[in-house]
Amino acid sequence: MTIKYYLGIQSYANHDCGASIVKYNTKSKKIDYVCISEERLIRKKYPYTFPIHSINYCMEHFKLKNLNRINYIISDWIKIKRWLRSGPSYNYSMFDYFKEKFNFPQKKIIQIDHHLAHAASVYYTSKFKESAILIVDGLGSDLETTTFYMGQNNKIKEIKKYKDHGIGTAYGAVTNHILNLGTGGEGKTMGLAPYGKKYKNQIKIKVKLNGIKNDFSEFMKRNPLSDTLNQINPNLRPNPIKVKHRYCKNKNHLSKYFSGVAYDIQDTAEKVMSHLGKEIYRDTKSENICIAGGVALNSVANKKLLDKSKFKNIFVFPACSDAGIPFGAALWGLFNFEKNVKKHQVNFDNAYTGRNYSNESILKILKKFKINYSKTDEKLIAKYISQGKVIGRCAGKSEYGPRALGNRSILADARNPKMRNYLNKNVKHREMFRPFAPVILEEKNSEYFDLKQPSPYMLLVAKSHKAKLIPSAIHVDNTARVQTVNTKQNLNLYNIIKNFYKLTGVPVILNTSFNDAGEPMVESPLDSLICFLQTKIDCLILNEFMIEKKNIKKLSIKNILNYRKNLISGKERKIIRNLMKPLSMKEFKIKKKLYTNEAIFFAIKNSKNKLKNLFSNLKNKKILLVGSNDHTIIICKMFKKYFKNLDLSFYNLPNKNDFLEVKNKPNLKKISNLNKINSYDKIIISSFEFQRDIVDFISEKVNKDKIFQIYDNSSRSLMDSFLIKNIRTKKRIYKFGTQTKII
Ligand SMILES: [Fe+2]
Repeated sequence: MTIKYYLGIQSYANHDCGASIVKYNTKSKKIDYVCISEERLIRKKYPYTFPIHSINYCMEHFKLKNLNRINYIISDWIKIKRWLRSGPSYNYSMFDYFKEKFNFPQKKIIQIDHHLAHAASVYYTSKFKESAILIVDGLGSDLETTTFYMGQNNKIKEIKKYKDHGIGTAYGAVTNHILNLGTGGEGKTMGLAPYGKKYKNQIKIKVKLNGIKNDFSEFMKRNPLSDTLNQINPNLRPNPIKVKHRYCKNKNHLSKYFSGVAYDIQDTAEKVMSHLGKEIYRDTKSENICIAGGVALNSVANKKLLDKSKFKNIFVFPACSDAGIPFGAALWGLFNFEKNVKKHQVNFDNAYTGRNYSNESILKILKKFKINYSKTDEKLIAKYISQGKVIGRCAGKSEYGPRALGNRSILADARNPKMRNYLNKNVKHREMFRPFAPVILEEKNSEYFDLKQPSPYMLLVAKSHKAKLIPSAIHVDNTARVQTVNTKQNLNLYNIIKNFYKLTGVPVILNTSFNDAGEPMVESPLDSLICFLQTKIDCLILNEFMIEKKNIKKLSIKNILNYRKNLISGKERKIIRNLMKPLSMKEFKIKKKLYTNEAIFFAIKNSKNKLKNLFSNLKNKKILLVGSNDHTIIICKMFKKYFKNLDLSFYNLPNKNDFLEVKNKPNLKKISNLNKINSYDKIIISSFEFQRDIVDFISEKVNKDKIFQIYDNSSRSLMDSFLIKNIRTKKRIYKFGTQTKII
């Protein structure tokens, strides 16, 4: 076969799910691709659904009628490297059922590390022949949160990884559990940070930096992670933050306390990323660095990393969050299954990886809803912007990732100091502290900003030299998240700004994503029309057509919304028929019950059974428990009856508790050092949270076969199986420190 197709998708119910197809012509060596996120197509943010709409979208782009033409599916993995039921303690959802029924041979599904897929997305799309690759996110395949790679000769090699919570999780925890800015609200926290400063009574966000480690264990709990238990009862996932803190109930984010917390976590993120930059430079000595993973969306930290390290060039992948996993996975497939593919063939010059919508399809919609329109051009759009009009632009291919880069953007005049508040209040309906970004002609970049290199994907932040000229696109601390544009990347957008420059002498306009609060970015002309009608956008651009609000006669938005809803559900039925084996709700319900029960059992009982088996087989042996007080006390309570014929000792490391505030110690023989550790038959690691630290600490002193680890990457603590009597109870189990009396 001359033409090969690689389909990339995520393997688990991801908030950022989507699909990508990479097409490769083995004769001409031409590479072509399309990528999309599911939320854009089904109009629901964080969908956690199997991305059938995205798969269909990509197949339609390449005119593929069915899945037979796909050579390989490349996916990531989570917890266990297998396609079905990869998370043994996850609840069974429609996502899993769809995966089971997906009509594609499992032997042609290849699974790679989640972080490797991130790494492939950024390295293969970069212009660097060789580069250090830094991946930092909330959670990878086997609990890793930071990984160093080296990209060389079109291949990616892992250098080292760090498991346990790092800056990604800490940033998310502060965003959710203190600032109340919701899932995916990290960007809001970043926007809030410049309003705050450090003050005396602030909470302590402690991090220990050592090599690749960015250890937040003094600030937050490492476990448990999300699993089936907290899906059933949200109270079964504790607030991960250990230190005493307030919660922003009343949206008073600009108060000293909450803006101070935002400042602090942002400051910590910058320190961590600068540290990791220096560390990966030490390991690679490369001039270039590629960054991806959710933390790479932190444009301020990216700039700090670049300024404080010896790297000369930086590339941040525009869809660096999990939205980029499908493309990374598909690219990895291409470079590992095809011979002699070279990086430069990928030709990634812009982030417009979606599909084009034809003028005919636009006219069809406008006619259907009897909407007046006129033809427009870049000159007129520039003139309207300079007159203070707010423009919604849906033209050409859509952008990949969370940033709008002109094709699905709201454009406005950054010179007008009132524009920022106007947009936040009337168009985007969001917090007033949120900033907007400038888009500037690339050649004028250094005139306006402290940036030595272009920033085409809005992923670098810089101080502005001319903040007073463009106040609505500059943040409170005189910085901006800059997008530079040249004729190669986006000719139409470039020309709009060029015309605006001719009219005003300012080569910058304000650019923000085309969506209303809480909704995904618009994808199609129909989505754009709906968002335009529901907000105070003055003009809508659909390719070469312009619709002005003042010319819109009475129109029922309800009718248009219903029309779109029916369109999506009708399409879904067709896609299901085409891509899936027959589905049955009855079968799904049976499986849901069965697998969810299995998952509950796995989460809560698996470790208990493992330890029970161990104790039953260890008669007359000398055993050492190394761990924390509270965890060991629980073990003594649960397994006392097995202790009769055992010689048990306890070494307290670390000298603290896992979870409960207990002052008493386990009733076991205590030893004060590990000098005789090799005289024991078995060493049981008696801690949930610190299991990995303890293993690291003792593994040089003792034969590894003697070490017994109770937990794997999907288990709950034994303390949970002791404390949680009925998972369906609405009782709050995890109120920090209140369970002391139980022991
Ligand atoms: Fe990720």
